[in-house]
Amino acid sequence: MCGIVGYVGPRDCTDVLVSALTKLEYRGYDSAGIAVFENGRIEVAKTKGRLADLTQKMEKEGKPKGHAGIGHTRWATHGEPSDVNSHPHSGRRVTIVHNGIIENYKQLKQFLIENDRNEFLSDTDTEVVAQLLDFYYDGDPIRCIRKTLHELRGSFALGIIFADRPETVYAVRCESPLIVGQGQDEVFIASDVPAIIKYTKNYYLLEQGEIAILKDGSAEFRSLHGRPLKKELLFADWDEDSAEKGGYPHYMLKEIHEQPTAVKTTITPRIEDGLPNLSECGIIFGTLRNLKNIFIVACGTAMHAGMVGKYVIEKLARVSVTVDIASEFRYRDPLLTHDDLIIIISQSGETADSKAVLSLAKSRGAKTLAIVNVKGSSIAREADMVIYTHAGPEIAVASTKAYMVQLAVMYLFAFETALAKGKLEEKECRRLTAALLKMPDVIEKTINKVVDMCQYVSTKLITADSLLYIGRGLDYALSMEGSLKLKEISYIHSESYAAGELKHGTISLITEGMPVIAVATQNTLLEKTVSNIKEVKARGAMTIVICDEEADIDADAVDYMIRIPKINETLMPMVATVPMQLLAYYTSVNKGNDVDKPRNLAKSVTVE
Ligand code: M6R
Repeated sequence: MCGIVGYVGPRDCTDVLVSALTKLEYRGYDSAGIAVFENGRIEVAKTKGRLADLTQKMEKEGKPKGHAGIGHTRWATHGEPSDVNSHPHSGRRVTIVHNGIIENYKQLKQFLIENDRNEFLSDTDTEVVAQLLDFYYDGDPIRCIRKTLHELRGSFALGIIFADRPETVYAVRCESPLIVGQGQDEVFIASDVPAIIKYTKNYYLLEQGEIAILKDGSAEFRSLHGRPLKKELLFADWDEDSAEKGGYPHYMLKEIHEQPTAVKTTITPRIEDGLPNLSECGIIFGTLRNLKNIFIVACGTAMHAGMVGKYVIEKLARVSVTVDIASEFRYRDPLLTHDDLIIIISQSGETADSKAVLSLAKSRGAKTLAIVNVKGSSIAREADMVIYTHAGPEIAVASTKAYMVQLAVMYLFAFETALAKGKLEEKECRRLTAALLKMPDVIEKTINKVVDMCQYVSTKLITADSLLYIGRGLDYALSMEGSLKLKEISYIHSESYAAGELKHGTISLITEGMPVIAVATQNTLLEKTVSNIKEVKARGAMTIVICDEEADIDADAVDYMIRIPKINETLMPMVATVPMQLLAYYTSVNKGNDVDKPRNLAKSVTVE
């Protein structure tokens, strides 16, 4: 998604804007631009391409010099990536950057045309907003912003400058995230905290419809009704290093290696006297005891964590769990009652479809629990209960450590629910919790154990056009994530299939040399999975098997075996996901792809 930044302070504004935008590159973008007040005039530089292209252009054509301005990385929605469609966009006296979508831009454009404002240069919805602001501008920026907000439908955040208000930046948030960073005599806006962490860790979170005015190195706030607001200053407890690559060639690899720490930080404070305790997250034993139906709703990787959660919760707590894709669930008029619990899982806490499901569930009176990584994000704030995962900032578009901690939370939740419902003996719960506490060490050991093999096996995958992931039970749930990881960064088509379902059609796809990655960590299902591996091997597949150190699998059926540590079967997904992440990572690297910023993807999907 697009990234917004803004700055008012003593530093060279262009340098700050470009540096801050580089920290938002992970969101995905296809063009970049800035607008800076230079001697009281707004100077714009923008281009299709990367930030390096913008810098090059400014070196050639002149770099705007000043101390206040706005910047943007654009992920095209309305209109192709091009110089002219790049942000900032301007009306006669107003220049803006915008993240999000204006749903009614066509009607607004028509309205402007009918009012003699036919000055559109681009295909974007953003330019319509710039023109509308200009139309309403009567010398009072706040009045004009409020009037414009009243007309706009959609989810968006805006950075705005007015030609006759030099050295001042205005910002407003409606759905799309926006923060205001407060440094020593300087102030920033940004779509996400990593953009400003180099300069300050103190920030304000803009809420729905709130307006910020950045001037003379500090910020003032107004409500949607124009009333002055006092806001709480928050502190980002990350250092710059935790939002940087720290010596790794890619964020994704760094984040894979951060998993042991992320799991430890997430589970340790929620375990007391050897048992899970989620009460600090608002989760009460009595509520868990009375649960009848659980719905886990999310998108992409987060939904896959929910799939693992389903198997574990149903197995241990004997309560029915439905997992659904947020974009489907929200439109299928789901049957929800006051007794149901809806769990929304989201790394960013800003995913548009997941947010919509949360509102829907609340409107139907269901209890809502958010499992979210980003503190203070919309989903975290709106849910009745929140379990924060403590993965730290996840920058690579392909989610790894956020998925791992979502799994860890699924286990904690399953253990506590099973205990509350009397389906798990305290002794067994202690045993499982102790095993979970050992996971950081096991994950670390697994990374070191499989990394070379994964690197090697990935060289066998790069020429494939298509491949299959197969598994049964928890292994099937896990292979969904393995498949998504591989396809999103290697661009090789892949599907995950329940191994027992192959014979009902899909096995006809197997041709000589086609890779099939089988996940076989569930001992109770091992024999059956091995039969399926043999079936595809007999039809020419190149088989890659992920199994534990002790699994007895006929060597003839396997081309490449990736052995992982053997632990409690229920917890195996947290181990088996590691080789799948590394296979995807190295396949992408070997293909020369942009690992951290795969094509067409954005980190945080804040539009529908
Ligand atoms: O921020 P969220 O967890 O709500 O994001 C949901 C998906 O967009 C996300 O998990 C996506 O599938 C991953 N980036 C894939 O690696």
